[in-house]
Amino acid sequence: MAGNSNLHMSKSGKTNEFYTEISLIENELKHYKGVFKDKIVFCNCDDPEYSNFWRYFQLNFYHLGLKKLISTHYDANRPSYKLEIIRNGETERSLHLPDYVQTPLIQNGDFRSPECVEILKECDVIVTNPPFSLFREYIALLMEHKKTFIIIGNQNAITYREILPLIRENKIWLGYNSGHFWFRVPDFYEEKKTDFKIDENGQKWRRMGNICWFTNADIQKRHENMTLFRHYTPEKYPKYDNYDAIEVSKTADIPCDYFGAMGVPITFMDKYNPEQFEFLGIDKEFTSDKGRFKITVNGISKTLYARIVIKRKQGASNED
Ligand SMILES: C[S@@+](CC[C@H](N)C(=O)[O-])C[C@H]1O[C@@H](n2cnc3c(N)ncnc32)[C@H](O)[C@@H]1O
Repeated sequence: MAGNSNLHMSKSGKTNEFYTEISLIENELKHYKGVFKDKIVFCNCDDPEYSNFWRYFQLNFYHLGLKKLISTHYDANRPSYKLEIIRNGETERSLHLPDYVQTPLIQNGDFRSPECVEILKECDVIVTNPPFSLFREYIALLMEHKKTFIIIGNQNAITYREILPLIRENKIWLGYNSGHFWFRVPDFYEEKKTDFKIDENGQKWRRMGNICWFTNADIQKRHENMTLFRHYTPEKYPKYDNYDAIEVSKTADIPCDYFGAMGVPITFMDKYNPEQFEFLGIDKEFTSDKGRFKITVNGISKTLYARIVIKRKQGASNED
């Protein structure tokens, strides 16, 4: 899978090897169809032999109106190659076979290599599941080159020092789907008691949590208001003892009649519409003791899970 030389990579490299199911890709990309018309799409962490991103765009090449599809395959130890599908007619009917062009790379297909950065510059939309261990660098590169992207990541990345300002400034946001998903993994993955299975073909699978999509494509979802139906009371929404905000332990319980700061779980980001809420930051940014916010319940101080701090925008509707 994904080039046998990748079997010998470092431990941290190994955790990057898991492969996205086509259903996860389809369920997300169906919301972005207009984004691809007459565009060059680049999957830059994708071995076309195994990647379902490549497969999705290959199958939907004409339906989406792509101009070109490019994939570069990373091989830790040797020069790799680039594969392209190039439109050579306006419709599927005017064209019997699209042009498939395979070109050797001088370097190893690392998305940061000068050669791959040159390809990146030529492209319009980047779509993939990049290596989690390089997520910060990956986003930074796409932002530097002002590319539209739709990529899979971990929701915790929202709290990274490099990603947080991009979220706050509304330069990137979350896509449609999030949660736990199964991914194919190579044979060298050790068996685990939970979130692990081997199917009837001997293929190993791991279930990963907190998966979400990050994008900067303007999707409908980020303009949709969350419907709020709970009412604020000081008893139901205690204040933190080290920050002037109320604790809202479930996103669905955000009160419709409170306009001060509120701490909400990270999963709120899935519902975040910048026209309805202001994103102030994350808990760590506001506490001097470097701890999480605490609330006092019956005189006992409780440390909580990570919280995002938000504020309702005055005048924003309670409903869609
Ligand atoms: C999470 S996997 C996803 C693979 C594929 N995009 C998919 O969704 O099925 C990340 C892939 O990035 C590759 N990779 C690791 N480091 C890379 C790098 N520096 N440049 C490009 N690809 C890299 C890994 O070999 C791995 O196949």
